[in-house]
Amino acid sequence: MADRPAPVDLTTAGAAAPEGAVTFRPLGTADLPMLAAWLAEPHVRRWWNHETSPEAIDRDFGPAMRGEEPAEDLVASVGGTPVGLLQRCRWHDYPEYVEEIAPILQVPAGAVSIDYLIGPPELTGRGLGPRIIAAAVQGVWQRYPEATAIIVPVCAANRASWRALESAGFRRVASGDLVPDNPVDPPHHHVHRIDREEPPCHP
Ligand SMILES: CC(C)(COP(=O)(O)OP(=O)(O)OC[C@H]1O[C@@H](n2cnc3c(N)ncnc32)[C@H](O)[C@@H]1OP(=O)(O)O)[C@@H](O)C(=O)NCCC(=O)NCCS
Repeated sequence: MADRPAPVDLTTAGAAAPEGAVTFRPLGTADLPMLAAWLAEPHVRRWWNHETSPEAIDRDFGPAMRGEEPAEDLVASVGGTPVGLLQRCRWHDYPEYVEEIAPILQVPAGAVSIDYLIGPPELTGRGLGPRIIAAAVQGVWQRYPEATAIIVPVCAANRASWRALESAGFRRVASGDLVPDNPVDPPHHHVHRIDREEPPCHP
């Protein structure tokens, strides 16, 4: 397909952080083995805590991929090379999460949340995450015209994640207890937010 870049082996030693524009496209069936491999990487498994069997991947990602769920899963590419996953959803499409976070933060109508991962471990810690997140923010404003805020809770122990949000222009607006994705973590979370009227940040 024209919008599918040729596969690039990012597992080769010394792979540099790819240059170029950050783009997103919907996750497709052909991407699932790549996604499973990313989720199995220790630095991702540590926080996402996903099962990676084909059945589990289909259970967790199939419904959104088939449009049976309102959340969206997107492959993030840099310069045409797939490097990670971006999830986005409207908070109020998942009322149970709005209810869970209510003691910490009142989620405004139309607000969106994102989640993300960089698959190849050698591409982390190089500032790629903030670039992907900053591009994701612009994508949210375009995709959800009614959204005025993006609100992202992050396990407080995942410093790389909330620092990447801050580098992309988010600010911490609350902290409190939420159920962690990985039960080994304590429930303490930080909640980060960016508003539509804030100037775009291009790290
Ligand atoms: C979270 C993630 C997207 C951040 O992207 P990134 O490209 O690594 O972000 P950066 O390179 O800007 O690093 C962010 C900060 O974390 C630090 N950091 C990054 N990786 C780290 C690591 N493995 N151990 C310790 N610190 C790390 C960086 O030094 C930087 O700190 P600074 O802002 O004080 O300089 C990426 O690390 C990742 O995919 N992690 C696994 C999945 C995950 O945790 N997803 C988020 C779930 S909420």
